[in-house]
Amino acid sequence: MKYRDIEILKLDSVSSTNEYLKELVKSGKCEPIIVIADKQTNGKGTGNRSFISDKGGIYLSILLKPFDASLITPMTAVAVSEAIEQISNINTQIKWVNDVYINSKKVCGILCEAVYDKVIEKPYIIVGIGVNLFMPQNGFNSQIKDIATSIYDYENIEIKQRFIDTLIEKFFDYLDNIDQKNFLEKYKNKNFLIGKRVTVLHNNIKIDGTAISIDDNCHLRVKFDDNTEKLFSSGEVSLKKI
Ligand code: BTN
Repeated sequence: MKYRDIEILKLDSVSSTNEYLKELVKSGKCEPIIVIADKQTNGKGTGNRSFISDKGGIYLSILLKPFDASLITPMTAVAVSEAIEQISNINTQIKWVNDVYINSKKVCGILCEAVYDKVIEKPYIIVGIGVNLFMPQNGFNSQIKDIATSIYDYENIEIKQRFIDTLIEKFFDYLDNIDQKNFLEKYKNKNFLIGKRVTVLHNNIKIDGTAISIDDNCHLRVKFDDNTEKLFSSGEVSLKKI
């Protein structure tokens, strides 16, 4: 299967679709490719956490040629959010910077990684997306059952294909014009942390404050209780809603 000449590889099970693509890059693969798995045995989340990836979800990674990818995570969050809303009519929200939520529960996580090749200066980009499309047959793993949700209760192959097609199309449509930041307003509007109390974990120190806005580079502005303000970029902080 292909989308716009980009190969789409479907796997039943893999350790991690992001790791799979990293190995491909290491072995000399340099064309964009999309890998989709029904299950991951060692799914990776942000901050070196694991990402529980049981059957029922969609685990998809996209390998992109090197480019300045600073906005790729928020752009992807908007593409996922719109794909969910288009196929299901369910309203979604975004938690800065890389999670999509339905009714205050997480339905999707995004992990973008850079892979350096010896020959080039700019890294290849791997965009990893994990979506709980259907509820796993035996329910969510106990570690995530209180904080995760799925779009649908029961597996349906047609819906699955429609969702994948919609997501890929939205992703590449936004990517074509990423410099124009067409996703930005939606990204800001859908973020539910704005105005909320948050704890910022920065350099191993926890500080309480209020998330006050997202700027045009998708950085989050937090006002701390001593009235100082700071802008954070994605990699710098771990955020908890209080
Ligand atoms: C997070 O919520 O912390 C990010 C989760 C990212 C999960 C996706 S699933 C596809 C790709 N492969 C992985 O191992 N991780 C990403």
